[in-house]
Amino acid sequence: MAKKTKKPWQGRFTKKTHQFVEKFTSSIHIDNRLASYDIWGTEAHVKMLNEVGILTNAELKKILAALKKVEKKIHDGKIKWDDSLEDIHMHIESELISLIGNAAKKVHTGRSRNDQIATDMRLYLRDEIIDIVESIIILQKKIINLAEKYQNSIMPGFTHLQVAQPVTFGFVLMAWFFMLERDKERFTFSFGRVNLCPLGAAALSGSSHKLNRKYVAKFLGFDGVTDNSLDSVSDRDFVIDFISNSSILMSHLSRFAEEIIIWCSTMYNFIELDDEVCTGSSIMPQKKNPDVLELIRGKTGTVYGQLVNILTIVKAQPFAYNRDNQEDKKALFDCGDTILNSLSAMSICIDSIYLNEDITKEAAKKGYSTATDFADYLVNKKVPFRDAHEIVGKAVAFAIKNNLNLDEIPFENLKNFSPVIKKDIFKFLSIKGSVDSKKTLGGTSASEVKKQIAKAKKLINEK
Ligand code: ARG
Repeated sequence: MAKKTKKPWQGRFTKKTHQFVEKFTSSIHIDNRLASYDIWGTEAHVKMLNEVGILTNAELKKILAALKKVEKKIHDGKIKWDDSLEDIHMHIESELISLIGNAAKKVHTGRSRNDQIATDMRLYLRDEIIDIVESIIILQKKIINLAEKYQNSIMPGFTHLQVAQPVTFGFVLMAWFFMLERDKERFTFSFGRVNLCPLGAAALSGSSHKLNRKYVAKFLGFDGVTDNSLDSVSDRDFVIDFISNSSILMSHLSRFAEEIIIWCSTMYNFIELDDEVCTGSSIMPQKKNPDVLELIRGKTGTVYGQLVNILTIVKAQPFAYNRDNQEDKKALFDCGDTILNSLSAMSICIDSIYLNEDITKEAAKKGYSTATDFADYLVNKKVPFRDAHEIVGKAVAFAIKNNLNLDEIPFENLKNFSPVIKKDIFKFLSIKGSVDSKKTLGGTSASEVKKQIAKAKKLINEK
């Protein structure tokens, strides 16, 4: 135990660290999550040290065997995390030294915890990004399934939360798909910037040893090495990228959640969610609440908060490494966990959606949702659009006064609004006619939604 608490940097100190300072500066209870990456990075480093002649074959063999033992000990939960050893790097080094002594004391040659932690973070983030992209694809597949099921189901489309024009539920779902597609692209793109190896930057200026950085990068599956050592150890923009991309993703999930919550409300009753994904009230026996979706919406705050957190951590740090950066792990882990959980939760909810098609169809008829189609009808009969707008506005006012939908106005009255109005107008005033007519690329007509679904399936299968 006495051996274990020996700090690798203690040489120049004459006093013991204050107990509170030890606790305050320790990150081990958070960064122990990086253990396997730290061990892998160390394996790469010592193999390279052997390559360049700093470690003998015998030393390397000993170190690698000891690393395996430490890994198993951590995996089995047999290591007691100790604040006096600050972080995962010092714990692993101290374990190695207590196992094999002198050879282990050479492990940190040409390496600093500054480039070590930057490497661990990048290794961790690579896996996290891969997991997130996979989770997005799972959600996208569920959305496509639902869109296929409901591609002809008419519902109102809204602007300002007022009924605007009829659309299909399949069309709405495909909007969600393409939003997620861009999220996926953002994460995939950021991967390239993460996948560069900082190890060898050492404390800030590189090393006087003849380290082979490219060897290490290759061993760890990086695309290459970072270009400048000062930058390598000091910036955390790859974490900012990740949390920023996560924030945009969360804004999307939050909006999907909000839509479903509104549509589930008694007043709308567009959607029913399975009992499995809802919760009840401790006092009101009738309640069935969409808490899972509310939590996704709520957790958006957690992720946005971490974006402000990481931006503030890096702001105004003098070059190069400062201990402020230790706080990046909380932000990164919290964000990654929240994103992965929210994606899984949303996937489960999407699977449990049932659309009350009769209700959404009736709702689409309300609010004079085909008024634009009426105007377009007049335009096709050579009425300038601005005049057509005015004419239909008057017809809407008539309908409101007489408590009718547009297609319920008797033809005798309707034809008075313009001489070009003929009986075929009623085809254009129906909600199905309206949806079918939206054949522009990306529109809500069945043929266009089919194309969107086909493209989406292609995009998913390409990945
Ligand atoms: N635990 C530290 C971190 O997470 C590791 C780097 C410490 N470096 C140092 N020079 N104090 O950032």
